[in-house]
Amino acid sequence: MLMNKVETALVNSPPRRWLQSVYETQVLLRFGGRVLPRARALEIGCGSGYGSQLVLERFGATHVDAVDLDPAMIRRAARRLARYGDRVRLAQGSVTDLRAALDADDDSYDAVFDFGIVHHIPDWRAAIAEVARVLTPGGRFYFEEVTAHALARPIYQRLFDHPAEDRFTGAQFLDELAHHGLAVLGSITRIQGDYLLGVAAKPYPARSDG
Ligand SMILES: C[S@@+](CC[C@H](N)C(=O)[O-])C[C@H]1O[C@@H](n2cnc3c(N)ncnc32)[C@H](O)[C@@H]1O
Repeated sequence: MLMNKVETALVNSPPRRWLQSVYETQVLLRFGGRVLPRARALEIGCGSGYGSQLVLERFGATHVDAVDLDPAMIRRAARRLARYGDRVRLAQGSVTDLRAALDADDDSYDAVFDFGIVHHIPDWRAAIAEVARVLTPGGRFYFEEVTAHALARPIYQRLFDHPAEDRFTGAQFLDELAHHGLAVLGSITRIQGDYLLGVAAKPYPARSDG
């Protein structure tokens, strides 16, 4: 589901940018570290592309693919990220079908970044399944998410548009990661049951020595 005007303004405001670049980046780096040299990363729901800039500059990715449902956001991201040239590829489409959006094969990204977007998706489980599918074995999913608890608050209800049904608690989000074999590294930061930040890794296939 696309952001409304109020959320678009808030998400792109200086305080939110500060939070993302100072607090969230620091927490995610503490849990997951920088990505490997020459890593290929994906940002889901990239909005105006600020997260992709952090992925390149602070997390150390060499290349970022970024996808967003909203063509207006992709245009904004293209302006912001133009200086990175072919280190960035932008696509309009849904996280729930990364083959259609980016022609993304299984096991094709070393890291996937989610700066507050999965709670916007009606079929959020399909989004997690796609993240798990496209991660390489050992690849990491860096996430910052907004729970059903936050979305039920009057301020969220009045100001923003989100899918009304089937939102997730922090525990349900983590259960879904586990369902796809994604294992949380270290711990999770929870903020008042409203937000959760963490990093989960896709396992390597079991060796068969026979
Ligand atoms: C709260 S904004 C976050 C944007 C950006 N990650 C940031 O932190 O500035 C959620 C974004 O997810 C996008 N979005 C919603 N549903 C999507 C989907 N199914 N696939 C890809 N992007 C989606 C919206 O268009 C919006 O740009």
